[in-house]
Amino acid sequence: MTDDTRNGEPQKLFRWIQRQTGLSRRKAQELIAAGEVSVGGQVVHDPYAPIEGEGLEQVTLRGHPLPVDRPEPRIYRYYKPVGVLCSHDDPHSGNTVGRVLRSEGFVGYTWAGRLDRDAEGLLVLSNDGDLVNAFTHPRYEVEKVYRVWTHRPPDPAKAKGIFERMRAGIVDEGETLRILDGRFEGRPAHAVVRLGEGRKHEVKRLFRSVGLDVRRLLRVRIGPIELHDLKPGEILRLDSAAEQAAFAFARKRLEAS
Ligand code: URA
Repeated sequence: MTDDTRNGEPQKLFRWIQRQTGLSRRKAQELIAAGEVSVGGQVVHDPYAPIEGEGLEQVTLRGHPLPVDRPEPRIYRYYKPVGVLCSHDDPHSGNTVGRVLRSEGFVGYTWAGRLDRDAEGLLVLSNDGDLVNAFTHPRYEVEKVYRVWTHRPPDPAKAKGIFERMRAGIVDEGETLRILDGRFEGRPAHAVVRLGEGRKHEVKRLFRSVGLDVRRLLRVRIGPIELHDLKPGEILRLDSAAEQAAFAFARKRLEAS
């Protein structure tokens, strides 16, 4: 999204990896530190090693040469089904988003928006590391909307009070968790909540704190991107207008920080 390749000037190795692959900053740094990256045939362990000129054309990641041209930045929506883990690789579970991406031929892509293994719904896939960062980092407070089914329908008389408590903030394990707003809808009733932050198991913890166990958790929106009628397991590229809007949204977040 932002072009930070200054002709002739060195840049940091991890930034180059990030830029050419769409991996997160942390993942790019981890891969370098783990000895997975070489430049001109030499393994380089320092993520901050300067790189320029011909060196840019001689970088390999896990033995594969990195493309020199920047791929066209793209954004896809993915409906993560229940049972798939948000991890690139997991020795204990082959059922990971990383494996889905590899099997679908998504080279250099990563995702924004973690979901628990037993949660489902929208992940945003992109080969643009800046966009993924803007959608992921807590600093940017990108809104997320969830549909939440609990072990018993909420008492209608108490529903308003429940959301008021969640809006005011609930302290759990030393963290204050809160929603922006919420409502119940449908039959049987389920909750629709909008959150501005992204803490671990946040929705489950919020509902548990008001005596409701989450049975099904479905994310339907991240920032301007909606799940719409995507089916579990489906991956679909945003249309051009939605893609441009998402890049503009991310740019605004990054520039404001
Ligand atoms: N909140 C949760 O509890 N789990 C998720 O996967 C996402 C938000």
